[in-house]
Amino acid sequence: MRFLILGASAGGGLPQWNCGCRNCVDARNRKIPCSGQSSLAVSLDGQTWSILNASPDIRQQMLDNPQMHPRSLRDTPVTSVLLTNGDIDHIAGLLSLREQTPFSLFATSEILDVLSENRIFDAVNREKVTRHPVALAQDFDLQPGLSARLFAVPGKVPLFMEGNDVRTDLIGEQTVGVRLTGNGKVAYYVPGCADVTDAVLKQLSDADRIFFDGTLWDDDEMIRSGTGIKTGRRMGHIPISGPDGSIVRLQGLRAAKTFIHINNTNPILQPDSPERAFVEQSGWDIAHDGQEISA
Ligand code: MLT
Ligand code: MN
Ligand code: ZN
Repeated sequence: MRFLILGASAGGGLPQWNCGCRNCVDARNRKIPCSGQSSLAVSLDGQTWSILNASPDIRQQMLDNPQMHPRSLRDTPVTSVLLTNGDIDHIAGLLSLREQTPFSLFATSEILDVLSENRIFDAVNREKVTRHPVALAQDFDLQPGLSARLFAVPGKVPLFMEGNDVRTDLIGEQTVGVRLTGNGKVAYYVPGCADVTDAVLKQLSDADRIFFDGTLWDDDEMIRSGTGIKTGRRMGHIPISGPDGSIVRLQGLRAAKTFIHINNTNPILQPDSPERAFVEQSGWDIAHDGQEISA
């Protein structure tokens, strides 16, 4: 399997339009690379691609990566799109894919319901962009020879659907991870995960490669930096650091590990930070836009 990081950032991207944090300022000044919102492309042969989550930046992401360019008049190498939740950073890009070129759209029924309930998505012609509900634990072909299976991870409903009482430990169809198999390899894509439960850990045990939620370095990062009022877990994202963080929880896996969905406040984005050094010493890779990875 070949992976192409279309966007390594969490919602907001790097820099985020309204943010003057150190990382966002450095990205504006091109001291560190800018990065688009959460999206990963996967292919078996480098010709046919599937996109995992359609980010609001998809137009630029497709422009920046020649692998995504049309090969003829009105064409795309992208044959399918898969959504892992209904967050804006994962679905808004569908609106940029509305120009009558066919592809298959895969997601759980609950995530497809989010699209149905928001009429703006009717602009994406259902006759061309066929919507395929997928049950959890059901194998389906994302593209010929590349099989996918969805599994529940702890999470919450999309931000724009939150009520007064928000549960972040929902296990169901609203937030899923993806298991991908092709050419005898197993890869996982989990851009949002509130907690690495024993069930999540067991699920990931056969991985050759994982792409995992690297939103925040620690749970209080946004509060401490003055950029937000919520903890990472309240946003549905387990922190990287700490005894219950993703590095410790996933350290027993033999898989090659890459952090994706990285928030613009995250200190691992600074090349010389001790946090980045720690992540790399722990055997993790930090995704950047345009990066190609094989599994
Ligand atoms: C998240 O991953 O927490 C979401 O992208 C938040 C949002 O929708 O803005
Ligand atoms: Mn997100
Ligand atoms: Zn920022």
